[in-house]
Amino acid sequence: MPRLDTKTALITGGGNGIGRAASLLFAEEGAAVAVADFNVEAANGTVDLIKQVGGTATALACDVSDEASVAKMVAGTLGAFGSLDVLFNCAGGGSTKDGPVTDLDLDEFWRTIRVDLFGTLLCCRHAIPAMVRTGGGSIINIASLRAVIGTEGADAYTASKGGVLALTRAMAMQWAEHKVRVNVLAPGVVLTERVAAFIKEDNPIYQKSLLGPCEPHDVAELALYLASDASRRVTGAVMRLDGGASVY
Ligand SMILES: NC(=O)c1ccc[n+]([C@@H]2O[C@H](COP(=O)([O-])OP(=O)(O)OC[C@H]3O[C@@H](n4cnc5c(N)ncnc54)[C@H](O)[C@@H]3O)[C@@H](O)[C@H]2O)c1
Repeated sequence: MPRLDTKTALITGGGNGIGRAASLLFAEEGAAVAVADFNVEAANGTVDLIKQVGGTATALACDVSDEASVAKMVAGTLGAFGSLDVLFNCAGGGSTKDGPVTDLDLDEFWRTIRVDLFGTLLCCRHAIPAMVRTGGGSIINIASLRAVIGTEGADAYTASKGGVLALTRAMAMQWAEHKVRVNVLAPGVVLTERVAAFIKEDNPIYQKSLLGPCEPHDVAELALYLASDASRRVTGAVMRLDGGASVY
């Protein structure tokens, strides 16, 4: 039995990296998937891959940091599939303009806050009412190991992902009575195309990954568990996925 049979999922940042891997896996497991990205070409590329293997998917253009765009994305998902059971907030990521507070580009601070933190908030704000109407759902946020342990050199990104952790806890409390579960993944290094292009082997998290760095598919597998009913009693959890880096 496919693990997401009859479920509908909305995945932001689904055009690349972790979001694309999750879109493919969720579709393989029977979900109808709305692939949202501000890079529409990339979202269409993911949808083509899903359709080539007989899955159900639709591509949606969205900038998660813009409320009108997010409202349209959620409406588009409901229009295509009629309901929304799973939201995976994957859009975002850090950049090389980040750094210690003394040096980081302040525009980059606000960009990260707007996309990774505010974008997560906006997507939840618009998805939760749809989930409540149908008796519940599962929200999967994505933070970073940087927000869980002490690391240096990416303070804007770390602060933004710390907000995602705190917001996840608050939403898990707030919506449990409506059976909306909210959990957060905290990956270490994940070798997506974007990260593989700049990560160096002397990166402290990379070095401490006892089992090696993750691939996008590894993150998608944990997201699949949180999306499925196998995790029906799990909410407010912070799931580290770091090859052992945080126990090093
Ligand atoms: N790759 C890692 O090592 C790693 C580690 C920890 C956490 N994460 C988090 O996982 C998530 C995905 O990372 P990734 O490595 O797969 O990135 P990626 O760059 O491969 O994919 C991110 C996708 O998000 C889209 N996106 C960016 N801003 C957007 C916006 N405002 N609105 C809509 N779409 C937008 C991009 O177009 C892209 O398709 C990010 O939130 C990142 O912070 C990644």
